[in-house]
Amino acid sequence: MASLSITARTIRSPEQAKTQALVLLLPERKTLHQDVKALDAQLGGTISRSIKLGDFTGKAASTLWLPGSASAQRVLLVGCGDASSITAGAAQKISEVAAKALVASPAVDAIITLHALAAKLSAPSTLIEQLSLQLSMAHYQYSQTLNQRKKPARALKRVTLAAGGTCSLGKAKAAVKMGSATGQGANLTRELVNLPGNICTPKFLASEARRLARNHKNITTSVLDEKKMAELGMHSLLSVGNGSEQPSQLIVMKYQGGAKSDRPYCLVGKGITFDTGGISLKPGAKMDEMKFDMGGAGSVFGALHAAAAMELPINIVGVIAAAENMPSGRATKPGDVVTSMSGKTIEILNTDAEGRLVLCDALTYVERFSPMEVVDIATLTGAIIVSLGQEATGIFSNDDRLAESLLAAGERSHDRGWRFPIWEEYHKQLNSQFADLANIGTGGAGSITAACFLSQFAESYKWAHLDIAGTAFRGSPKGGTGRPVPLLMQYLRDRAGTL
Ligand code: BES
Ligand code: MN
Ligand code: ZN
Repeated sequence: MASLSITARTIRSPEQAKTQALVLLLPERKTLHQDVKALDAQLGGTISRSIKLGDFTGKAASTLWLPGSASAQRVLLVGCGDASSITAGAAQKISEVAAKALVASPAVDAIITLHALAAKLSAPSTLIEQLSLQLSMAHYQYSQTLNQRKKPARALKRVTLAAGGTCSLGKAKAAVKMGSATGQGANLTRELVNLPGNICTPKFLASEARRLARNHKNITTSVLDEKKMAELGMHSLLSVGNGSEQPSQLIVMKYQGGAKSDRPYCLVGKGITFDTGGISLKPGAKMDEMKFDMGGAGSVFGALHAAAAMELPINIVGVIAAAENMPSGRATKPGDVVTSMSGKTIEILNTDAEGRLVLCDALTYVERFSPMEVVDIATLTGAIIVSLGQEATGIFSNDDRLAESLLAAGERSHDRGWRFPIWEEYHKQLNSQFADLANIGTGGAGSITAACFLSQFAESYKWAHLDIAGTAFRGSPKGGTGRPVPLLMQYLRDRAGTL
């Protein structure tokens, strides 16, 4: 993936910028800001005239392109509304429109200045970080299975961010580093999520994990094959891949940013590389979207890549339970009973509730790392889309502090989640006549009963589950969103105590 170079630099005033595209972030005002008066004069008064005509008001996330001058070939005005109260959501929207406009332009380089916000801007780091994140993400394009002519052009190569007195250069540089690292991580997630199921198989994910380890000196990868998993007793995970020609894989990636003895934070990802539903076959419509069913696994890759790029001073273990859910003569059938690694037996009443079957063994497996906290990430239930739509990730936890941290990280990164209960009363739905528990509930609250199932394998540590079925991908235009990488990175940074 060709990536965009983003750097922070000090530029004394906007009219001194030499660039193919000068982006001015402006507050909502009826008159021209002092800091852009010289530039306005250089441009023959086009900025002040646009304001006077009402073509540009400065309303948050509004944009207007103007032709430039000899030093700045073109100028993009971006409205920021009331600069003294830019929320995380507004920072995201402002950054997204600016990034998309720049990426769509023929400019090869750009300078973004915050000069006109200097007097008022409340959280410059948040805005600079969002700009870096949105620029990285807007620059991404899926390409692996496309011919050249179908790829939109990406002229943009270099962006310079000028904090313009809103914060120190050091702070601006740190914000750029965090934002671009998160963006690169999210783009890796999107690429893996977008790849079709015939390329992105469990073995492909394992090879991607080995590649990640080659690219980062403090990441190591190991992979457990089906034989190893059988020796460990992971018969729940293995039952999901029974019908597939593709062997299941348990992928373990370790990032060591802290001391060797520091207990790690564990991220566990659902890596169903294609979910047909198995013998409980899904309907045909939109079944192609089930290539996205490894979105949780994709976000674990993205988070580890970003953590390494940020050099976070903590240890992280990423575990991916990868399998393909297919019907065949060897596939698991409704009514089959399997024994999980924990020793608990499971009656598989619906083979389409396969995510929890692979995750439960991965959750037992991570006990060996004595984790500080475990967060699993999974496109687990269609029901979470009924509850929350595409806006929020479902959060479930056995620990209030961890749940609060994830909610707060979601607010701060504007990659938000919403908490659901996993009360004892819901657990009753999982009673089985023939095993310790059934893999589906008896009715209602499908996302909660799925989380209840998982919680029974996460009793020995602080655990949270993120149901990302509504947030990991979009149906139109189809594609991975990179969520919840921004949420995860904010959570990990908070735990690392950096920024
Ligand atoms: N991968 C699906 C969940 C899903 C649905 C993700 C739609 C993204 C979009 C999961 O494996 C599944 O099939 N869940 C079932 C559970 C049911 C059988 C209890 C569902 O949600 O219908
Ligand atoms: Mn399923
Ligand atoms: Zn699934």
